[in-house]
Amino acid sequence: MSPPKLRIAGLHKSFGTGERRTEVLRDINLDLADNEFVSLVGTSGCGKSTLLSIVAGLQDFDAGDLSIDGAPILQPGLDRGVVFQSYTLLPWLTARQNIEFALKAAGYDRPTCRRIALEHLELVKLSDSADRYPAELSGGMKQRVAIARALSYRPKMLLMDEPFGALDALT
Ligand SMILES: Nc1ncnc2c1ncn2[C@@H]1O[C@H](COP(=O)(O)OP(=O)(O)O)[C@@H](O)[C@H]1O
Ligand SMILES: [Mg+2]
Repeated sequence: MSPPKLRIAGLHKSFGTGERRTEVLRDINLDLADNEFVSLVGTSGCGKSTLLSIVAGLQDFDAGDLSIDGAPILQPGLDRGVVFQSYTLLPWLTARQNIEFALKAAGYDRPTCRRIALEHLELVKLSDSADRYPAELSGGMKQRVAIARALSYRPKMLLMDEPFGALDALT
C-alpha cells in the first residue's frame, strides 16, 4: 500500500517554558489520502493555525512524525501551497509580480510566469488590478491574490487558514 499523502503521527507542540508553558497540540494523529478535502473546526485558540503552520514547515514541533508521500516535512516547500492570514503578499511587488515570484521559484521561465500569473488573476477576477501593489488593494482583494498565487504553481496540497475571512459571501 502506498503511504498516505499526508501523515501526522504523535504530534506534540507546546509554547513557552516553565510556568508559562502552554501545551497546544497533544498526540495529534491524522492520515489524509490523495484528493481528500478536510476542514479543521475548533474553538478559537485550540491550535488550528499552529497545526497548519507546522504542516507548512513554518514552525517546529516537540515530537511526532510528519510526512508527505512518505518524505519527512523539514521546511516549507512548493509541494504545499499556503494561504495564511499572516503569510501575506510581498508589499514591494505588484499583484502580478507576487504570483510570478512564486512561479519563478518553481522553475518556470519568464514568459510562462507571466502567462500563468495573468491566467490566475483572471480566475480570481483581478485582471484589472494586476499592476497594483498590495497597499492599493482591499483585504479581500489581497486574499484573492494570495489564493491565486497558491493555486498557480500547482502544489500537491493546499493549506488554507481561514482563507475566505476577508471575502464577502457572494465572492
Ligand atoms: N508564537 C506563539 N507563542 C506562544 N503561544 C502561541 C503562539 N502561537 C500560538 N500560541 C498559542 O497557542 C494556542 C493556539 O493558537 P492557534 O493555533 O493560533 O489557535 P487557533 O488557530 O485554533 O485559533 C493559543 O493558546 C495561542 O495563544
Ligand atoms: Mg487560527
